[in-house]
Amino acid sequence: MGCRALLWVVVAVSWLCIQARVLHSQGLLECSSSDSQALLDLMSNFESPVQGWGPNVSANCCDWAGVLCDGSTGLGRVVELALASKKLTGSLSDSLGQLDQLRFLNLSHNLLKSTLPESLLRLPKLQILDLSYNEFFGPVPASANLPSLRVFNISENSFNGSLPVWICTNLTGIQVLNLAVNYFSDVIPPGLGNCSSLQNLSLAMNNLRGGISEDIFTLGHLVQLSLQKNLFSGPLGSGIGSIPDVFQNMKKLQYFIIQSNGFKGSIPFSLSNLPSLKFLNLYNNSLTGTIVLNCSALSSLVTLDLGSNNFSGPIPEDLPNCQQLQRVNLARNKFTTPIPQSFKNFSSLVYLSISNSSLSNLSSALGILQHCENLTVLLLTLNYFNEELPGGASLSFPKLKVLVIANGQLTGSMPQWVRRCTRLQLLDLSWNRLGGMIPSWIGDLQSLIYLDLSNNSFVGEIPKEITRLSGLIDRNLSIASPDLQVFIRRNGSVRGLQYNRVTSFPPTVNLGYNALNGSIWPEFGNLKNVHILDLTRNFLSGSIPASLSGMTSLETLDLSYNNLSGSIPSSLVHLTFLSKFGVAYNNLSGPIPKGGQFPTFPSSSFEGTKLWDDNDPFHAGSQSHPGSVGQSQNHSRSANHAMSDISLGMTIGVAFGMAIGIVLGTTRISDSCLCEIIRFYARVKSSM
Ligand SMILES: *[C@@H]1O[C@H](CO)[C@@H](O)[C@H](O)[C@H]1NC(C)=O
Ligand SMILES: *[C@@H]1O[C@H](CO)[C@@H](O)[C@H](O)[C@H]1NC(C)=O
Ligand SMILES: *[C@@H]1O[C@H](CO)[C@@H](O)[C@H](O)[C@H]1NC(C)=O
Ligand SMILES: *[C@@H]1O[C@H](CO)[C@@H](O)[C@H](O)[C@H]1NC(C)=O
Ligand SMILES: *[C@@H]1O[C@H](CO)[C@@H](O)[C@H](O)[C@H]1NC(C)=O
Ligand SMILES: *[C@@H]1O[C@H](CO)[C@@H](O)[C@H](O)[C@H]1NC(C)=O
Ligand SMILES: *[C@@H]1O[C@H](CO)[C@@H](O)[C@H](O)[C@H]1NC(C)=O
Ligand SMILES: *[C@@H]1O[C@H](CO)[C@@H](O)[C@H](O)[C@H]1NC(C)=O
Ligand SMILES: *[C@@H]1O[C@H](CO)[C@@H](O)[C@H](O)[C@H]1NC(C)=O
Ligand SMILES: *[C@@H]1O[C@H](CO)[C@@H](O)[C@H](O)[C@H]1NC(C)=O
Ligand SMILES: *[C@@H]1O[C@H](CO)[C@@H](O)[C@H](O)[C@H]1NC(C)=O
Ligand SMILES: *[C@@H]1O[C@H](CO)[C@@H](O)[C@H](O)[C@H]1NC(C)=O
Repeated sequence: MGCRALLWVVVAVSWLCIQARVLHSQGLLECSSSDSQALLDLMSNFESPVQGWGPNVSANCCDWAGVLCDGSTGLGRVVELALASKKLTGSLSDSLGQLDQLRFLNLSHNLLKSTLPESLLRLPKLQILDLSYNEFFGPVPASANLPSLRVFNISENSFNGSLPVWICTNLTGIQVLNLAVNYFSDVIPPGLGNCSSLQNLSLAMNNLRGGISEDIFTLGHLVQLSLQKNLFSGPLGSGIGSIPDVFQNMKKLQYFIIQSNGFKGSIPFSLSNLPSLKFLNLYNNSLTGTIVLNCSALSSLVTLDLGSNNFSGPIPEDLPNCQQLQRVNLARNKFTTPIPQSFKNFSSLVYLSISNSSLSNLSSALGILQHCENLTVLLLTLNYFNEELPGGASLSFPKLKVLVIANGQLTGSMPQWVRRCTRLQLLDLSWNRLGGMIPSWIGDLQSLIYLDLSNNSFVGEIPKEITRLSGLIDRNLSIASPDLQVFIRRNGSVRGLQYNRVTSFPPTVNLGYNALNGSIWPEFGNLKNVHILDLTRNFLSGSIPASLSGMTSLETLDLSYNNLSGSIPSSLVHLTFLSKFGVAYNNLSGPIPKGGQFPTFPSSSFEGTKLWDDNDPFHAGSQSHPGSVGQSQNHSRSANHAMSDISLGMTIGVAFGMAIGIVLGTTRISDSCLCEIIRFYARVKSSM
């Protein structure tokens, strides 16, 4: 009983509260007529009305969607406008300047396309301005007065001209300045120093050049500095004078990101001794000299990316003394020493890449690294040329999820120790000279999602155990390993860069370019998670199992250059994601299945076989079948043929052309792109 009474009290109180709020917003706050007019003006400059706005919704603009008013002056004054992701198009009206009580304006993720009205930069109370992800263009107006501003985010637009550092003059309290992904050009003009409270500064992905301006090094509160993908050059440090120790004033700097610029010289002493630093990304510059880092000082460092530079000398022995250091990329440099003994003590290490760095003595490297108890990702591609891949009776990597030792021309056979890496999700030993059979214990690697043993000399049958790997069967599994952060380029241009991360590799079985024989197990049909099955250039015989139609995620199926016989099972038309298909140069005969994705495959997919296309006497296999009649209706074939070209840019062009000219479904285009992206990955993986 007492309980029920209590419940009624709660209900009554809640009702009173709700009534009070309704009164507050509807009764007490009547939108001021000037604000009301300003919002109507704003709306009339958009190309379509804002949902939930206008006199039809309410005479009181404080009731409109995304509008928040404050009534402390008696009248309802607009203080917040939350209009993100409303599909707004058109331009921004000057009338915004009348909203002189506005504190928060969020217009991000719309399609607004105009220059910035000057009046917007004269709002005395504005604290947060978010215009990111639109199509605003032109220079930022040359004068501004936003004394209350804390956050200025205009990233992902098309602003150009020189960097609007002048806004700092009247913006002394600003904490976040995000100008990334625009077309700002030229050097950084002086003036950023007046933004003295700045914590996060991003100028990434513009066309800025010159050095880092001296002003930036005076910003003592800076936590994050992102300059990646510009045209910066010169020494890493001050752009003007030659003071090397510019980082010592930046006592709070945690994230320093200058990836993909043209910085030269060595790592400045003050940077290599910065205790606050957590994330240091100098990837893809032209830095030289020996890597000298003081790990006693770098006590917060978690991620270190020095890949794709011109560093030389020894791999720094001191690294294991960086107590927090988990992710290390040293790929694409020129080291003169092997992995040092001190790495036995590198217990915090989770991710290590030293691909393409002129390393030798793989046996010693593995012997050392097996002591790294937390090692999860190991990438050693393009090193150790012509050495033997150690069988390593005693080696063990209990936590390893990703192992890539490719492109080394390594000899030997499938190493026994790999069998004990029971958590392995990605195994890539491609482009070596490994021989013998692929052992049946591969079936012990139940987490395997990506297997690449292509371009070796493996013989014998494909072990049937591969068809029982749950990582390849369970559609919901993807590679989940610690990864290095990468930065994806401007909207839509090169989506492929995403494949620079191991975690975005598609589920794959690639055994191509070996000497495997026997037949394709019908049980391959169980592998519902596999996106790419590549068995090209082996000696496989027998027929193509109809059950392969069970591989419902399949995007690429390459069985070309084998001794397969029989016909193509018509069940394969059910593989709706298939965008690349190859059975060329086999003993196949019979009709090419109709339907599904088949009409989109180029004639080269079927070359060197006795297959025929009922509809296309000219583009069928090399021997056109006498019985075949009809006209070519597969315009897309030649277009698709071009997909085998390696240039990614071209692929996007071709895909785009197909989209317009041939009206293929969008999924198909992106899948085709995917294949190219994978090949693109093959080329970039040496830089990871
Ligand atoms: C408001 O309602 C009137 C009459 O129903 C209609 O003609 C007008 O288009 C509406 N205006 C807007 C902005 O929806
Ligand atoms: C603006 O809205 C977008 C989308 O809802 C959101 O992601 C973003 O964080 C908002 N910006 C601010 C400064 O709150
Ligand atoms: C700073 O604000 C003042 C007062 O509004 C204005 O006159 C001046 O032009 C502004 N300076 C800059 C660089 O925007
Ligand atoms: C713009 O930057 C601010 C401050 O960093 C952030 O809160 C907001 O989420 C960003 N906007 C979007 C759309 O990401
Ligand atoms: C900025 O872009 C506009 C068009 O969007 C162009 O007309 C103008 O020349 C550009 N200015 C600079 C400095 O690049
Ligand atoms: C700050 O702005 C003033 C103009 O108001 C200018 O004279 C001064 O040089 C600026 N300081 C820095 C560090 O940019
Ligand atoms: C600045 O960036 C750091 C690191 O990304 C982030 O944790 C922090 O929240 C950002 N600060 C502001 C004020 O947005
Ligand atoms: C490296 O940086 C250059 C510009 O300096 C850029 O063109 C190139 O795409 C970058 N490479 C990678 C792999 O990020
Ligand atoms: C690296 O150094 C070599 C010579 O030592 C030079 O030829 C090459 O251009 C340099 N590469 C870069 C990216 O600076
Ligand atoms: C490395 O850092 C420690 C701790 O800050 C410091 O005592 C030592 O002098 C530094 N070593 C060098 C060579 O700079
Ligand atoms: C590992 O660390 C211990 C104690 O810190 C030290 O005695 C030993 O020499 C180190 N081993 C190597 C190979 O550096
Ligand atoms: C190794 O990983 C475990 C689990 O993630 C963690 O608790 C431990 O602190 C790590 N060891 C070191 C030395 O970082």
